[in-house]
Amino acid sequence: MKIFIDSADINEIKKANAMGVIDGVTTNPSLIAKTGRDFKSCVKDIVAEIKGPISLEVTHIDTAETMFEEAKKLADIAKNVVVKIPLTEEGLKAVKLCRNHGINVNVTLCFSPNQALLAAKAGANYISPFVGRLDDISEEGMQLIDQIAQIYSNYKFDTEILVASIRNPLHVRDAALIGADVCTIPFSVIQQLVKHTLTDIGLAKFAKDWEKVPK
Ligand code: G3P
Repeated sequence: MKIFIDSADINEIKKANAMGVIDGVTTNPSLIAKTGRDFKSCVKDIVAEIKGPISLEVTHIDTAETMFEEAKKLADIAKNVVVKIPLTEEGLKAVKLCRNHGINVNVTLCFSPNQALLAAKAGANYISPFVGRLDDISEEGMQLIDQIAQIYSNYKFDTEILVASIRNPLHVRDAALIGADVCTIPFSVIQQLVKHTLTDIGLAKFAKDWEKVPK
């Protein structure tokens, strides 16, 4: 499973990248706003750090054409930019336009198997189902991943399942057990994945015993 970091914070991205486990980055307007920085400089730093796919989201979402125009500008920033387009009727049209133009697309804000089916048919490179936000409203987010995986396997779609809105380590484990292609994970959760109490206890014991060894 590929691991993307779900962040626009260059310090977080650099720290995670230094661990050697990061395959790409996803951002959204909220994550960009959280940095307090302007869009251009924020993205410039990310592009300089990450060689893998970097998702940047469109904000001019009124029509397929406005999204397509913005997508072309975003895709021009760097070869590895993947344009994030929302799962709406106009969004699906924009996906088609982008794909015909050779622009890679991540279809975002997916909450149902049927939405995922349509995104794949429109030619999306990635589909982003939001598991945490479904859990928030008492729907099983991970069940959606299972269903999308089944549908994509039934019809051999190439669209990669990019599990988003990850809130905790169990989301990551379950996505990996299902066989999702990608998980995009906030930095705090990446740090949680590393930690285990028994690792800490084991390290402390080794250090203590090492003191007893004559040197
Ligand atoms: O990148 C989109 C997604 O991961 C958002 O997560 O926690 O705002 O639902 P969240």
